[in-house]
Amino acid sequence: MAHPVAQHPIVPRERLQFGLDGDIPKHWFGGDPFKTRFWDALSLIFPPGEKYFMNCVRDWREQISDPQLLQDIKDFNRQEAQHSLVHRQDNDRLRKQGVDVDRLSDMVDTMLNGDYRRRYSPGYNIAITSALEHFTSIIAHSLFDKRDVMKEADHRVRAMYAWHAIEEVEHKGVAYDVMVDYAKVGYVGRVWGLVHASVMFPMTIFRVQRQLMIHDGFSLSQRLKLMAKGLWWLLKPGGVLAPMYRHYITYYKPGYHPWQEAEQPGYEEWLAAFEQNGSDPVKAAEQTRRDLALV
Ligand SMILES: [Fe+2]
Ligand SMILES: [Fe+2]
Repeated sequence: MAHPVAQHPIVPRERLQFGLDGDIPKHWFGGDPFKTRFWDALSLIFPPGEKYFMNCVRDWREQISDPQLLQDIKDFNRQEAQHSLVHRQDNDRLRKQGVDVDRLSDMVDTMLNGDYRRRYSPGYNIAITSALEHFTSIIAHSLFDKRDVMKEADHRVRAMYAWHAIEEVEHKGVAYDVMVDYAKVGYVGRVWGLVHASVMFPMTIFRVQRQLMIHDGFSLSQRLKLMAKGLWWLLKPGGVLAPMYRHYITYYKPGYHPWQEAEQPGYEEWLAAFEQNGSDPVKAAEQTRRDLALV
């Protein structure tokens, strides 16, 4: 299906250096354990999660003959493989803190690539994949928002998420196209996939985050206090998730397609900054922040 709208070219960027093995403090997000471990949990979830996305798209690969979509899938795979590679480097940072990275990552891997793949049909799995890809593609709306939710974050980890969010924007419609055009998932299946993902994704983050905070030595009452404050940071008006709500909702509209989303703050700025800084993703992210007047 042709989508004559705002599709960006999918550009896999490889061998990027973020300096994640540098002197990044344990609680790199302004010294705040909840904020740090929230993003660290995401980093632990991405490698098994992205493996799941690639598996669910691969289920339909044999039936696809459209050369454009085949190329998009290839580039989607290359981007996701790089994301996992860099998140594994980030997870090595956690490993050095004594975190049992393999156990936490295996827990998510078993759920998605074991249970989900076994229990659900390829059509339902691609609907969940497409819904999760909707989540990853709207993160950019928060990261590049004027409210500057990443202000207190370490610049290297922040740069990793900036790059990842930009590439998620680039390939945001690939799993969706496979779901609609080949798996023939209709409106109800698509929306049900998002409802499912909207419960499973945050629950999985909090499950992993809880383990990280236990590892940090916080007692139950300390964790509850940190959690209450942290949930407010996420959900309050003007909080981390606020810039995403409007974009999250669009997926429920009949006739929605990810490429229709033309409004993408930060995208052009990051691309230009990446080019101007000789493909250095940390300098690119910092320049993007200056260009968006975030600093
Ligand atoms: Fe990704
Ligand atoms: Fe993705």
